Amino acid sequence: MSIKINENYLLLQNSYLFAEITKRVEKFKEKNPDKDVISMGIGDVTKPLVPSVVKAFKEAVDEMGRIDKFKGYGPEQGYSFLSEKIIENDFEQLGINLDLDEVFISDGAKCDTANIQEIFDLNNKVAVTDPVYTVYVDTNVMAGRTGGVNDEGMYDGLVYLPCSEENGFIPPLPDEEVDLIYLCLPNNPTGTTITNNELKKFVDYAKENNSLILFDAAYEKFITESDVPHSIYEIEGAKEVAIEFRSFSKTAGFTGTRCAYTIVPKELKGYDSNGNSYSLNELWSRRQTTKFNGVSYPVQIAAAATYSEEGKKEIKDNIDYYLENAKLIRDKLNEMGLHVYGGINSPYIWVKIPEGIDSWTFFDKLLNEANVVGTPGAGFGPCGEGYLRLTAFNTLENTKKAMDRISKLKF
Ligand code: MLT
Repeated sequence: MSIKINENYLLLQNSYLFAEITKRVEKFKEKNPDKDVISMGIGDVTKPLVPSVVKAFKEAVDEMGRIDKFKGYGPEQGYSFLSEKIIENDFEQLGINLDLDEVFISDGAKCDTANIQEIFDLNNKVAVTDPVYTVYVDTNVMAGRTGGVNDEGMYDGLVYLPCSEENGFIPPLPDEEVDLIYLCLPNNPTGTTITNNELKKFVDYAKENNSLILFDAAYEKFITESDVPHSIYEIEGAKEVAIEFRSFSKTAGFTGTRCAYTIVPKELKGYDSNGNSYSLNELWSRRQTTKFNGVSYPVQIAAAATYSEEGKKEIKDNIDYYLENAKLIRDKLNEMGLHVYGGINSPYIWVKIPEGIDSWTFFDKLLNEANVVGTPGAGFGPCGEGYLRLTAFNTLENTKKAMDRISKLKF
């Protein structure tokens, strides 16, 4: 007998996008050790944790070293002191009421958006936007919900919702019945978003077709414009058709600290093959209690500190800083005559690259000639070809330097 692998993994294209980029950048650095490479590729923050978070974090670590305060396993779903703050600050302010057991604290929105598909049957039809945050696609491929990649670079079995300049990057409704719809708004990678009315169309579609929307709102705190939904539950009836994912990563600099949360309303139902209904909240809870031991106590204390008055102010300053970088990037690229999207409600800027050059070639040109790392649009799906994503998460100084170098490039 020999060990059999999960052959679905063989259907995956290349390596994980950001792993491939890291590989190329490391190779470049090895060959050019004296080059000052500026990263505007993966959406990783540069600002450290804010002082009020660090203070709370340290105090919680001290507690862990005291016999009278020490904590062992915590609740898999997270401590209620954090869930209460989440509900009060992120939802009640928007007029949305949630129960404590509808909040599931975790170590990342990437993990949650990756794992959620486990509670659904393999025969569910899945829709994703194109371009798309690749985790939604890859995890469905790994699970066996798709076929291989076709000539257009799409996985058989998935329904793609093309987002382009022509439709203003507003995902169209699926033109066939689908069961699960992944939406990331504000969007990664395009940095664009949609209005309340446009999101309502998806909620209405989901109600009519008994579908579920998997709504990734990891970039919600970057919204600056009105009439942009901060939560899908702002849309009436969405609690019956949507799960929402949020994260402290980009908001509060937790990319290395790890904390996020997922809302699974108790109204949500799924069905077995006999038509019996089951609570998705209970299924997710069953999944988490079995496979996850919760986020560490100090990290949850640190996350709770982001909701203190001081924490909120410090975090807003950091987000404003990144949004200023985004504006600078947008302005510089506009001056160069390029078409630029995103960067207003998002830390991501989606640049249309000059005709006649594909996005991986443009990525290499940027790396080799300007020593700047972007993310090639093609890595996010076929509709991403012809674009490059830049992030506003570097320092202001590096962002200025990078933009100066890019503006000197000859196309
Ligand atoms: C990105 O660059 O798209 C993000 O950093 C990926 C992530 O959050 O996992």
